[in-house]
Amino acid sequence: MKFLVLAGGSGTRLWPLSRKNFPKQFLKLPTENNGCESFFQKTLKRLSLYKDAEIFIITNEKHKFYVVNQIEEISKKLKNKPAFEIILEPASKNTAPAIALTLKYAIQKGISPEEVFFVSPSDHIVKPDEEFVGYIKDSEEIAKRGYIVTFGIKPARAETGYGYIKVKMPETETFYRVEKFVEKPDIDTAKKYIEDGNYFWNSGMFAFRVDTIVEEFKKHSPELGKIFEKPYDEVLNNFETLPDISIDYAIMEKTDRAALLPLNIFWSDIGSWESLYEILEKDSADNAVIGDSLNIQTERSLIVGNKRFIATLGLKDTVVVETEDALLIAKKGECQKVKEIVKILSEKA
Ligand code: GDD
Ligand code: MG
Repeated sequence: MKFLVLAGGSGTRLWPLSRKNFPKQFLKLPTENNGCESFFQKTLKRLSLYKDAEIFIITNEKHKFYVVNQIEEISKKLKNKPAFEIILEPASKNTAPAIALTLKYAIQKGISPEEVFFVSPSDHIVKPDEEFVGYIKDSEEIAKRGYIVTFGIKPARAETGYGYIKVKMPETETFYRVEKFVEKPDIDTAKKYIEDGNYFWNSGMFAFRVDTIVEEFKKHSPELGKIFEKPYDEVLNNFETLPDISIDYAIMEKTDRAALLPLNIFWSDIGSWESLYEILEKDSADNAVIGDSLNIQTERSLIVGNKRFIATLGLKDTVVVETEDALLIAKKGECQKVKEIVKILSEKA
């Protein structure tokens, strides 16, 4: 089995800590080894528990140095010595072109069409690592049979930022066949899915054989399917002309070869300030605090400091995130809209 780590996203919902030039996956927050490791490094640590892992990392050219430096920093701490290959994208075209480009690279290097790839985001929290390796191994066996394996999370609420997967009766006792995959439904649809009870959230990790996914690219996304007919250099040179689309829309919504393994361990994609608040330790007034601050009569708030000392008085259910050049003050519950701030700012730039 080989690994493919997607490390080219921009993580706009954790603005202003996560920035275009320093995205979420490279952030070191207290959730990961007391702030000593980034989500990306923690991902490498987790995957390298699989013995003799060969890990392909795809990121944007702009982020090459974060990837190289953070690999160097973490490599001493990795149990088994994995092999790394870094693929650099000249443009961000979302996950489907990123996955296709990496596979093209691997195929050109002579990888077997029957090889199984495990695709992982680089900005999630999954734990405990040792248990997770068991899921990787289980997915390898299912993927060998020609399935595209997804990892399902029991939904906790109607959330529009996730893919929803409807399952059929289990094929075996350990995994389900997928009946329907719906990427990021609107809120009313998400509510219906929650009521229905037969839906899981898609955790964003996948396992498949190279030949399986290549066939599915050709069938459901012919423009990306053509990547596998051309030499790697040609694909790379024309990368900017590829459609901007995620694997979820390009393949997962259309394929009939998907399977689902329920993931019964802790998982969070830290998709908002609220979800970070949920997993951080709280003080006696239910505040989650990072950095140096004094909080008086402040309750249920998230205070994230950087260099400056923060003092709050009488705040309730508020998010404060201070960085060197920007300050976010928001009502807890409204932070999904942070990406709108980023959109407006990038239009202005
Ligand atoms: N190399 C590369 N290039 N990586 C990318 C790119 C890109 O253009 N775009 C995103 N990524 C990386 C991100 O860094 C992240 O690790 C992963 O791919 C997933 O991308 P997101 O942009 O974070 O996806 P999402 O959160 O909106 O949705 C996906 O994850 C959800 C769970 O967190 C989907 O798979 C949903 O169905 C799923 O529920
Ligand atoms: Mg995500």
